[in-house]
Amino acid sequence: MATAGSGLAKVDGSVKDSIEVTVHYDLSKFDKDGKVSLHLVREPRNETCLNCHSKPMWKKRGASFIAFTDVHIAKGLICVDCHVAGSMATDERIRGKEVHQFGKGDDPSGYVRNDLDNTIRTCNDCHLKGYLNAPIAKHEWLPSFHLEELSCQACHIPERKVKSALVQVSDVFNPGTKISPPSKYIWTFYDQNMNYWNHYGELSQYTAKDQPTDRFITQYAKYKGKIFPVNPVHSAWPAIYTKGEKGLHQPRMKDVYDMWMLHKKDNKKYPELSKIIDDNNDSIPEINRPEEIEAFINSVTELLNNLGYDMKNRQVVWVFNDRMYFNGTEYENLEKEIYESSPYASVYKYNHDVFPAKAALGSKGCTECHSLSSENMFNRKIVKYPFGEDGKPVFEPQYVRLGMNGFMVWLSGFREEYIKTMEYALVLFLLILIAFNLLFYLNQKYGFIPENSSYVAIIYVITAAGLLFIYLKPDLNSYILPERIWLDKNHFILSLIPFLTGISLAA
Ligand code: HEC
Ligand code: HEC
Ligand code: HEC
Ligand code: HEC
Ligand code: HEC
Repeated sequence: MATAGSGLAKVDGSVKDSIEVTVHYDLSKFDKDGKVSLHLVREPRNETCLNCHSKPMWKKRGASFIAFTDVHIAKGLICVDCHVAGSMATDERIRGKEVHQFGKGDDPSGYVRNDLDNTIRTCNDCHLKGYLNAPIAKHEWLPSFHLEELSCQACHIPERKVKSALVQVSDVFNPGTKISPPSKYIWTFYDQNMNYWNHYGELSQYTAKDQPTDRFITQYAKYKGKIFPVNPVHSAWPAIYTKGEKGLHQPRMKDVYDMWMLHKKDNKKYPELSKIIDDNNDSIPEINRPEEIEAFINSVTELLNNLGYDMKNRQVVWVFNDRMYFNGTEYENLEKEIYESSPYASVYKYNHDVFPAKAALGSKGCTECHSLSSENMFNRKIVKYPFGEDGKPVFEPQYVRLGMNGFMVWLSGFREEYIKTMEYALVLFLLILIAFNLLFYLNQKYGFIPENSSYVAIIYVITAAGLLFIYLKPDLNSYILPERIWLDKNHFILSLIPFLTGISLAA
């Protein structure tokens, strides 16, 4: 294959059809000693890698790799600037060795060559030293322990522009159009906003270059001690549980598909499947109510019996994230990692499509994470189970998934949102007071305000009206007053103002 692919020879024959394989080398490509000089590109173009990686990375991570979504691609970086190989590699496991490997990270979903984990050139390798003219990341405004708690990606990939699959189930029959091959009708996907996504139908229409855009805010998980932006996939599927055995088996997808097809042609076959209906009005049935779970388990049991499976000591179960249902109501919790939604679905980290620095979390102040708002990183509601009894998703606050203490989250939100805001208001008040004092002091000395007390009242009224006007017009106050990040950045110096004023008053 490699010989034919590189154009060094013409290869005929067929192993499959038992026709002898012959290789006719193109001698014009060789010198008189029979040696070949190859045209090798040391640093391949991005398209070379994307030929294989584009579609999976879009479906799993909503990655797009275009100038619009990725600061690095926009600036002309190539895959192998980070996924370094050979003499460019930073890690001695691959550096300078002709092992034909390149730097990779450590994705929770991947177990291929874990021995080469973290051989990639890291964000810091470039952004602390300025390699390739990368801007130096200082983050002087940020208490430095944050860089231990948070990955760079957590702040610098605040959202995604391309749809990816948050939920993937393989239990119901998906009536979507254009799905191919037919047995894939047994897979149903939901996007990050929990909208049904006819993924296989779309694949037949889209190329990797015109992906379905569907902006979403990233979710987070703690992996090996650090918070990363991730896609923690949810799943529901039929399984075969063997008593006393660890792990589960999966019936053949084709068999489950055939079961549904038989039922669709003649609803007297596997009649209980008729109980499985669409409860959330998105046109796709989902298994969520106890009757539906029961009906599904019974139908698959009947299917496996019909197929002659040995079901001794075995039992059909329905797996829903970290729950293994034995019937409509009884389930056992399966062990899972805290960052996972399900022990049987992957968690994909986001590393590409880094946003410009100005869009990073924290650029609008500490309250982008620490606040009581339900929109921020900690309190945002994320999907816990894709379907509740009403067919709608069951949510939980993100801090639970991050293993954080609810009271501490509340306390830090209260501090950043209320105490600090009050402190800034106090500083503003003190600055106005100081200005007034200065004004009256100068007036005492030079007497430029006429000797009439109503002038003083007018100054107070104008100041108060001005402040009220600024307060009531948010666009104006963001224009006149300093930005929150500036205040948070200079938090220490600002807190000196009330402190020193207090001391001077006491003195
Ligand atoms: C012929 C198809 C193909 C091409 C071309 C290709 N890859 Fe891959 N790549 C794969 C497959 C298959 C895997 C293994 C998938 C897995 O880990 O499950 C893989 C794995 C990887 C991984 C490791 C993922 C992990 O587990 O962390 C990285 C990184 C990677 N490729 C980057 C690249 C880069 C960069 C290029 C271009 C220089 C490239 N690939 C070209 C098919 C390809
Ligand atoms: C700015 C640096 C950078 C560039 C440029 C870059 N990557 Fe990556 N890539 C990373 C990092 C960092 C990781 C994973 C780190 C981890 O998982 O810990 C990664 C992971 C991957 C993975 C594993 C799965 C995943 O998405 O996490 C694949 C495959 C991959 N990159 C392919 C590519 C391809 C193809 C290109 C070029 C189109 C590319 N990368 C360009 C930094 C980069
Ligand atoms: C191979 C070196 C390299 C690696 C590795 C790398 N970067 Fe960069 N990064 C650059 C370069 C070069 C630029 C573009 C500088 C410019 O604007 O000209 C850049 C730009 C950026 C910017 C935009 C800055 C701005 O002014 O808006 C951010 C944010 C960023 N990188 C974050 C990251 C993160 C997060 C990672 C790790 C996932 C990372 N980088 C990995 C080289 C790198
Ligand atoms: C808490 C969120 C947060 C984390 C974590 C974080 N950054 Fe940033 N980063 C920001 C914000 C906000 C800015 C823009 C404000 C500024 O310039 O400091 C920024 C700015 C940058 C810039 C642009 C600097 C410039 O002057 O142009 C780079 C590059 C960068 N970060 C890289 C990184 C790298 C690499 C890491 C991981 C070691 C990282 N960041 C971790 C929030 C974060
Ligand atoms: C990207 C989100 C993010 C931003 C922006 C951010 N933090 Fe944090 N902060 C965290 C995380 C995550 C922790 C660790 C919480 C834990 O492990 O319990 C933390 C912890 C803290 C803590 C210690 C624990 C606590 O809550 O009292 C302080 C203090 C703190 N941050 C202050 C700040 C300040 C000040 C800023 C702005 C300059 C800021 N943070 C911006 C995410 C953020």
